[in-house]
This record gives sequence, structure tokens and C-alpha cells, in this order.
Amino acid sequence: MCGIAGMAASANVSQKLLRSIAALEYRGYDSCGMAVQRNSTIDIRKNVGTVETVNSLERFTDMKGLVGIAHTRWATHGGVTQANAHPHADNESRLAVVHNGIISNYKELREKLSREGAVFRSETDSEVIAHLVAQKIARNGRDVEEGFVEAIDELEGTFALAVISVDAPGRILCVKRESPLIIGLGDDANYVGSDFSAFFEYTRRAIIMEDGEYALITPESYAVKSLLTRERVDKEVTEIEWDAEKARRGGYPHFMLKEIYDQPITVQAALQIPREDIQALAGMIHESRQCYLGGVGTTYYIASMGQYFFSRLGGRYLPVVSTDEFAHIAEVGPEDGFCAISQSGETYDTLSALRHAKSGGARTAGIVNVMGSTLVRSVDVPILQGAGPEKCVISTKTALSQAVVLLLASMELGLLAGRLSEAEVEALREEVATLSDLVLDTLNERSGYFHTAAHAHQHMKNWLYLGRGIYYPAALECALKMKEVTYLHAEGMSAGFLKHGTISLIDENMYTIVLMPTPEEAELHALTRSSAEEVRARGGFVLGYRFEGDEVVEGLFSEEIVLPRVSPLLAPFLHLVSGQLLAYFLAVALKRDVDRPRALAKSVTVA
Ligand code: F6R
Repeated sequence: MCGIAGMAASANVSQKLLRSIAALEYRGYDSCGMAVQRNSTIDIRKNVGTVETVNSLERFTDMKGLVGIAHTRWATHGGVTQANAHPHADNESRLAVVHNGIISNYKELREKLSREGAVFRSETDSEVIAHLVAQKIARNGRDVEEGFVEAIDELEGTFALAVISVDAPGRILCVKRESPLIIGLGDDANYVGSDFSAFFEYTRRAIIMEDGEYALITPESYAVKSLLTRERVDKEVTEIEWDAEKARRGGYPHFMLKEIYDQPITVQAALQIPREDIQALAGMIHESRQCYLGGVGTTYYIASMGQYFFSRLGGRYLPVVSTDEFAHIAEVGPEDGFCAISQSGETYDTLSALRHAKSGGARTAGIVNVMGSTLVRSVDVPILQGAGPEKCVISTKTALSQAVVLLLASMELGLLAGRLSEAEVEALREEVATLSDLVLDTLNERSGYFHTAAHAHQHMKNWLYLGRGIYYPAALECALKMKEVTYLHAEGMSAGFLKHGTISLIDENMYTIVLMPTPEEAELHALTRSSAEEVRARGGFVLGYRFEGDEVVEGLFSEEIVLPRVSPLLAPFLHLVSGQLLAYFLAVALKRDVDRPRALAKSVTVA
């Protein structure tokens, strides 16, 4: 949600901290700020806008000091204003705090602290932390560590936060509860951040903090301690394998386009996941009485595509539940399984669903992109996708690679269930290996058609995506891509459902995109054709996406885009890519903020 960065160094920190919050901007970008401690003062600068805008207004790099914290915000409590931006300070600005998460008892704390003299300058829940910590430090004879720990004890809710104080010069204190926080270890500096992106330009050595721990960071040292006992906790140092270069835009105008073009490689990376890991997931599904698949937003749609793979190849119907609803509907017992899918591994809804599954005694698995994330560390069977950092707020390459993982797992399930032989699985794996080239062909040879269509139809405000079978969740995902990045109204629907009500919307103000199956899927193909005909019969404009070699549909659509010839198994993947391309080109045509669409955040760590 919000991004936190902090740094204690032997040289001025503001320049590096600026780069850290720029790298974290995908977590939130409505406002940002920085606090730097020097001698007995803390300089705080913050404002509304992107990191670049705020830096030009506030000149972060003029700030001088060897320790600092910074923040990029995605508003939850309080509007997008300069006062609500972080860092927040106590009355005398003896300390500053940056926070990610929600303090659920902030109203009570705010009333109590106000009665005791705290003057609140913002509407945020976060500001109570500054006043509370300041009060506790004062009551503990300026013992910052003791005051900090006592204050944390009184906070309810979820948080990752970092504090600097003139009473603890050169030090950062930080803590987490259900929000991620990571420490980076450098040669002449140590860091703290919401995730690796905060400091992976500076160091690859990291320590992952757990709930119940807090840390003290100086330029030369760090100490992680237990909140309960105040004793030091021994922590393992993790080496981050992500390549900083991969996270750069590499000449593309937007990260979204770069990441769409990364997909031939990320498909290969998914195929290189150790087969034992995929087999462990299939084994968990096979052994469970019922195994749920869960995700939210894009990952819910990807899980829904997985549902078709597991049913077709593994012979198992797996319930798919959006993780925000999971606890309200899923009855989970010790014989059940739960597989969560998440790019960030930090999504609040997905982690709550995981807790619900665990509380019922279920075995758990996770298909996750971010190494060291909470989800990876919490499940019995973790699968790391290896798609590399995804910087655009919109999921593209990670979604496609999750779908590949689910397809591979469904094959292994087919093997375990005795529906497929080892030779058949091998042949299927070889087929999947061709996906990389098919995606490349779609990108290199066909993206021009999507560009043209986007420019020709950019005036259209309502879009309907239709698909049947596995093309139905693919249609849902294409519609989500469209609405997120273009701000246009887009709906995805099963083509068969259309005639049960929504067809009344068809007129010249609604464009329909039909995701055609391959001609080999004769029944699906015929049914999808008839849905396209229903729309055309009512004067609706239909843009058809069909595959090379499909002659049957000639003349059916108002316009069409032809995708490479492909097998039924891989066809839905190319439709995902087509959905990404149209959404991207439309967003560019409409001059949207492609990598940071309004109101979104990469990692949604609140309920
Ligand atoms: C869509 C998108 C969101 C995320 C959702 C889950 O492009 O990015 O819908 O898919 O918030 O996030 P993760 O995958 O991090 O759990």
C-alpha cells in the first residue's frame, strides 16, 4: 500500500532515500515525504504528488543528515493533502514517523493524546503513532527504545513503521505487525524498507522482520529484538537474487509495456521452476478432500483459469474463492487444502484467507512472485514464480506466469490421478514450452493491430468482453486490465450469460470483444459464434479476436484481430496478452498514467 524507506549512513542520506521512494512509488503515489535528522533538529518535507513533483517543490536533496526516513502514500485515512502526507511528527518535532497499514484504535488514542496535550495536524491514523511514541519517550526519561516498545504495545491494527528521533541520533527504530518490513545491510549504511525495491540498488543482503520483533538500525550495526522480552533475536541474512537491471525500464516508454514484452522470458522462467515444487502442489491437491484456489483481482481470475486446467487435465473440480470473501464462505477443515496466488505475497485479503484456512487446519500452498514475502514464508508448499520485479501497478507478466504454473500443476495432478501417463505429461510440457515463441509472435507481429484498434476506438466508453469455457475468466481478466488502466467501463462475462439480461445494454455505445476459442474446440467455438451473432443482430459492434486458420468466422465480426495459430491448451494465454495490449494502447491514447493509474496501488495491504 504505502512505501516505507529508511537509511542510516556515514554520508548524507537524502539523495539515496529519494531514489528509494521513487523505486517504491508503485505501492502508492498520491503524496510523499522525507524526514532527516541532523543534530537536535528533524527536517520534514512533504507534499502532494508523485515523487518527482514533490521533489521539485520541496527539494529533498537539499536536506542534510546521516539518518532519515521517507514515505510514499496511498491514502486510507484522510484525503490526499500535504498535512496527511508522511512523515508525521510530535508537537515539538523531536521525532518523525512513517507508517504503512491501519491503526484501528486510532480514534481512542487520538482523543486520549489530545486531552494530554498532543496537537494533531492531520486526519490520519498514523499521526497518533508520533504523539504516542513521543509521550512514552518523555515518560521514560528520554529512553527512546523503551518508549518506542511501550507505544507499540498500545497500537492495534496492522503496521510497518519507522521512527527517527533527536533523542536517538543516528538511529532508526522500526517494527511490523502484519505489514511487511525488511532491513538491508550495506557496507557503510543500513536500510529499512517495505520491500527489497527500497534498497536493492544499494545492497542485496537483507533481513526479513517478523511480527513480534522490532529493530534498531545504525550505519554500522543493527539489532533485531523481541517486543516481549527485549532480547536480541538471531536472524538469517537473505541474499536477494533479483537483478536491478531487470527492474529498470530498458528503453520502453512504460513499465507496463516492458513487462508485457518480458513475458516470453517469464514463461520460460515458470517452466524452470523445479518440478518437485510443482509436484508438491499437485500432491497437496490430490491428497486433500477439497482444495480451494484463492486470489483477488487479477489473481482471482487467474485462479479461475486454473480451475479449468485442473478440471480438464487433473479431473478435479477445485472451488475458487476471491480471498476477500474466503472467510465468509469457505468451511475449511484439516483434510482440506488452500492454494493462494499472489504477485506480492502481501495482499491483506489473501493473507487473511490464508489465516482462515490455517485456522481450520488446512494444508496450504502459495504461488508467489516476491521472494521473502509473508505468503512465501507462511505456506507449507511455496512456489516462487521467478518472474522478476513487476514495477507497473497493473499485473501482466506475473499473471501470465501464474497461469503457466497452474497449468503445469494440473498436468502433475493428472499424472497422480492416473489420468495422464508420464509420456503424456512430457508431451504436454513440450507443448507449453512453445508458449514463449507464441507470445513473442503475438507481441512482435500483432501488437500493431491492437495499437490501430485502440486509436480507432478510443472514443468508446463502454466495453464488454465475452468468452466461454476458460475464455470466460480470460475475458474477466481482460476487462479488469481495461478498466484499471484506461478508467473506461469494461465488463467481462461468460458469453452464454449475455442473453440472460446484459444483452439489453447492446447499442452503439457499447463495444463487444469476443474471445474466440480455437476451431478445434468445436462446441465452444459454435456457442461463442452464436453469442457474437446475438450481439450483431442487435446492431452491436463486435471486435473478434480469433486464431489463424479459423475460417468459419469469416464475416462474423465488425472487425477482427488474428492471433497466431495455437493449440486449445495455450490459446487462453494469447487472449490474456491481447487484453494487455489493447488496454495498454488505449491508455496511452487516452493519456492515462499507465504505470500508476489513479487510486490503485501495487500491493494492497489493507482490508
Ligand atoms: C490487477 C492487479 C490487482 C492485483 C490484486 C492482488 O492488475 O494488479 O488486481 O492482482 O490486488 O495482488 P497480489 O497479486 O499482489 O496479491
